[in-house]
Amino acid sequence: MNLSVELAPRHPRGLRLRNPIMTASGTFGYGFEYVGLVEIERLGAIVTKGTTPRPRVGSPPPRVWETPAGLLNAIGLNNGGVEELVRDLAPRWAGWSVPVIANLAAERLDEFVAAAARLDDAPTIAALELNVSCPNVENGLLFGCLPETAADVTRAVRDVWSRPLIVKLTPSAPDVVAVAEAVAASGADALCMGNTYMGMAIDVERRRPALANVSGGLSGPAIKPLTLHLVYRIAQAVDVPIIGAGGVVSAEDAVEYLMAGATAVQVGTAHFANPAAGVEIVAGLERWLRAHGVGDVRELVGAALPQRTRHAALALA
Ligand SMILES: Cc1cc2nc3c(=O)[nH]c(=O)nc-3n(C[C@H](O)[C@H](O)[C@H](O)COP(=O)(O)O)c2cc1C
Repeated sequence: MNLSVELAPRHPRGLRLRNPIMTASGTFGYGFEYVGLVEIERLGAIVTKGTTPRPRVGSPPPRVWETPAGLLNAIGLNNGGVEELVRDLAPRWAGWSVPVIANLAAERLDEFVAAAARLDDAPTIAALELNVSCPNVENGLLFGCLPETAADVTRAVRDVWSRPLIVKLTPSAPDVVAVAEAVAASGADALCMGNTYMGMAIDVERRRPALANVSGGLSGPAIKPLTLHLVYRIAQAVDVPIIGAGGVVSAEDAVEYLMAGATAVQVGTAHFANPAAGVEIVAGLERWLRAHGVGDVRELVGAALPQRTRHAALALA
């Protein structure tokens, strides 16, 4: 049975995953934290916590709040910065069989470029995921909301980053399809759809917003139908692989995203309830394929798209 997928068919190096199940940025640390706890080498890929040009302490607590079928977070990109990633963390991935993808966020175009150029010095990073979609920091959504700015940052980073490039989109863009098209035309090897949805909760005992940041990003099963719909729409508009991210907690969720046109999926919030969620979804996907007589996971990619576009998705896979 084939579970492997190719996420960067247009890139000379490619980005082949042994299966389509990845971890989502900010929900699985840098991978090392889970060594010995779960079989991380069973995963298709690990995406790191978002890194920024300089270290950030993030937002004040409370930074997370559970909601029905979801989680609100306003972590505010708490991380040690690009230098720490390149010098101290990236060398620890040497010899790993699971590809590690670095997630990068910045507030200005020149900062994105300088940070991406520095990350290129770390050979253990298999690919870069550009976060132009963080709702919890000032200017976090600046680049991702408009096709022009999203294309500019993609093009500029493409020039300095030598390995496969994934751009992570925001569901908050007024025209998500236009942003996806612009990014795909500007050198992205793959798109990730997507980040969290802006929301809030009130702590009624304290009579104030539950999160210190007031608003946060909503993730988890509550958002799955929303993001699934966006994946289904952009799959009919772009000819690069799409990674679905939003509320995947089971193998069936992953299958839904694949059928909507995604080539891979990321598992995020589910890891807070069960650190082995991603690994268990890999096993569940194998069982699902066997039970349904599917010999190659790529057969599912785009299976639920309208007939005329289905073949395009299949060719991609
Ligand atoms: C606590 C937390 C921290 C996150 N941090 C990041 C981040 O640093 N960079 C990023 O691109 N996305 C970040 N995300 C978004 C996730 O990677 C993912 O896109 C989103 O949560 C939807 O997937 P899910 O519903 O499976 O969690 C974070 C999400 C959560 C819940």
